Amino acid sequence: MSLADLVNPHIRELQPYQPGKPVEELERELGIRGSIKLASNEAPLGPSPLALEALEQASGDLNRYPEDDAPYLKRDLAKALEVSEEQILCGSGSDELLDLLGRCFLGPDDEAVFAWPSFAMYPIVAKSQGARAVQVPLDGDLRTDVDRLAEAVGERTRILFLSNPNNPTGTSIGRDDFERLLRAVPERVVIVSDEAYHEYVRREDFPLSLGLISRRPTLVVLRTFSKVYGLAGLRVGYGVGDPELISLVARARHPFNVNTLAQAAARGALSDPGHVGKVRDLTHRGLERLESGLRELGLRFAASDANFLLVEVGDGAGIYDRLLRRGVITRPMAGFGLQRHIRVTVGLPEENQRFLDTLAQELSR
Ligand SMILES: Cc1ncc(COP(=O)(O)O)c(C=O)c1O
Repeated sequence: MSLADLVNPHIRELQPYQPGKPVEELERELGIRGSIKLASNEAPLGPSPLALEALEQASGDLNRYPEDDAPYLKRDLAKALEVSEEQILCGSGSDELLDLLGRCFLGPDDEAVFAWPSFAMYPIVAKSQGARAVQVPLDGDLRTDVDRLAEAVGERTRILFLSNPNNPTGTSIGRDDFERLLRAVPERVVIVSDEAYHEYVRREDFPLSLGLISRRPTLVVLRTFSKVYGLAGLRVGYGVGDPELISLVARARHPFNVNTLAQAAARGALSDPGHVGKVRDLTHRGLERLESGLRELGLRFAASDANFLLVEVGDGAGIYDRLLRRGVITRPMAGFGLQRHIRVTVGLPEENQRFLDTLAQELSR
């Protein structure tokens, strides 16, 4: 008997998500020290002191189950976002919300449409329901092609995932494109606007997606505390949508799906917009430094509205490996079909400079 034969075929065939390796593990493997991790689009600073304070207070209650359905976090979010609490569903990272949406709307032979390269969880979410992942190539400038996305929607399409800004390119779509997409895609298709990097966006005309939910009940907006809020380690994100749709999706969630510490820290983080501004400013300055340094090296990169850059370095796998051996951890892109690129997350000023210096040396070898 083969154990693999016992597993549902669509699960057996899944390619698992490839996370960036923890620094400690890599250093042990390579026998090096003092590495910097610019690989997983995390914030360069830790969370707000108010989040840390809330964590400490909440840690006295760990023998108790969490508040179910994160009522206080939902209340705080509703106030901050100017939506109603009934429109919000919190999850263990926005990954959990992607999974819940897949479980609620996709079944065998259904289709999920999304641009590609994009966030690696979309094909996993689709295929884990036995659905087909319909990948729509980005345009020549590595931008999401809204018209081609809409054209790819067919009779069997149930979900359209839109990473905006798009991971791993950092490119974003503006209000006109977003609204054109909403008009072109039938309302029976759930459009998931995955805005994990929303707080970093620099363009003025970024879609005001939350305001469009009342016009399109099948639009769901996902955001996270993993990025600008610096809470990736606690796993907390949220979705905003039509109240009825949200209550239907919430039926599929596990009880207590957001743990006590995550709820407390997210509330603390939300109460400190000054910290968010600090991380955003530091990131924008870092992005500008990286952009000018890469230009000096004659390298091309996609126009980024997020906290990372997709850089064309030539031999992507080779450069990734050489940087790694020198303790600069970036993300290889061959798994996304981008053989000539690496993705680098904006770090602290000294980390950005070390990346640029090491890259310059490795390119000239
Ligand atoms: C586009 C996109 N969506 C969702 C996520 C998942 O974030 P979370 O940590 O909230 O699960 C990520 C994380 O990298 C992402 O890049």
